[in-house]
Amino acid sequence: MFRWKDYAAKNKPIICLAPMEGYTDSAYRQLIKEITPEVVVYTEFTSSDGLKYGSRKSFQKVDYKEIERPMIAQIFGKNPEHFAECAKMLEDMGVDGIDINMGCPSSKVVNSCHGSALFNHPTLASEIVEATAKATKLDVSVKMRLGFARYELEPLKIFTKNLENAGAKHIAIHGRTTKQKYTGSANFEPIYEVKKHLNIPVSGNGDIKTLDDAINKLKNLDGLMIGRATYGNPWILKEIVEHFKGNKYKGPQTLIEKIPTIKHQIKLACEFKGEKVGILEMRKHLANYIKDIPNAAHHRFDLVRVSTIQDALDKLDEITSKL
Ligand SMILES: Cc1cc2nc3c(=O)[nH]c(=O)nc-3n(C[C@H](O)[C@H](O)[C@H](O)COP(=O)(O)O)c2cc1C
Repeated sequence: MFRWKDYAAKNKPIICLAPMEGYTDSAYRQLIKEITPEVVVYTEFTSSDGLKYGSRKSFQKVDYKEIERPMIAQIFGKNPEHFAECAKMLEDMGVDGIDINMGCPSSKVVNSCHGSALFNHPTLASEIVEATAKATKLDVSVKMRLGFARYELEPLKIFTKNLENAGAKHIAIHGRTTKQKYTGSANFEPIYEVKKHLNIPVSGNGDIKTLDDAINKLKNLDGLMIGRATYGNPWILKEIVEHFKGNKYKGPQTLIEKIPTIKHQIKLACEFKGEKVGILEMRKHLANYIKDIPNAAHHRFDLVRVSTIQDALDKLDEITSKL
């Protein structure tokens, strides 16, 4: 059974793929794991109410393949009983861990007292962790931000200690407040402080764009969580994992070298969601892969309009034939 503490002892540091709605579906996670098996992947955030009431869309979000393990299902909501029911359901589905979203800053989520709003309701936040942990044998973790309107170290230390006492086995912290959303830059200093006061593994998240960022930001942390830097560059996680194992790895550098992986990603996306939706969702990924090539804006215009697998393959062939 997956245990954060054991994984942290074996994988120094733990490297996680950040949960990202609209990106980290099963197809994306499979691609990441095929390249770097050591990565811990998270699902997109999934409504605990949606799972409880049988929403097909919610169940699709936590669907996974064996290769994705360890695969953590992230859920959001505010009702501890719903979290407990979901924990049992997810355990039956065989996921490796359950993560509670306490970081989402979107106003729709926050206004429902979900996601990062829980920072303003510390008792409820701990009750959710406790109810979830009691309902399952799986490790329960939390992903959160530095604070809501602003960051203050003492409340952050108390909040995270309470989560640990309630049964959280790993905490990942994005070094921004809710109010900051994605502006400014991620501040890791408070995360290093939190780590000193907890006995569970702590991972830092935010703005890790290169191997050097990973090396410089790790410090006393057990893990790093990386999201946007994987857009169009799923190899970055391998570069980081291999570095910490004492090896050197560089992913493919040219678009021509990247093409087999891109074609494979198209296949995975269409197998998972069908050609129509799979290709729609691939459009943004295709645009990300070509952003550094000459005439990128022109090619982007075409790639975000492809609507079939053949269309996408033809467009890629056309682009590479001109390079
Ligand atoms: C498009 C997008 C979707 C996201 N969806 C989620 C989500 O579902 N759950 C979550 O906890 N965080 C979500 N996040 C936040 C990321 O997990 C991560 O904390 C943030 O992007 C900072 O890390 P990065 O700089 O490595 O991308 C999302 C971020 C982005 C950009």
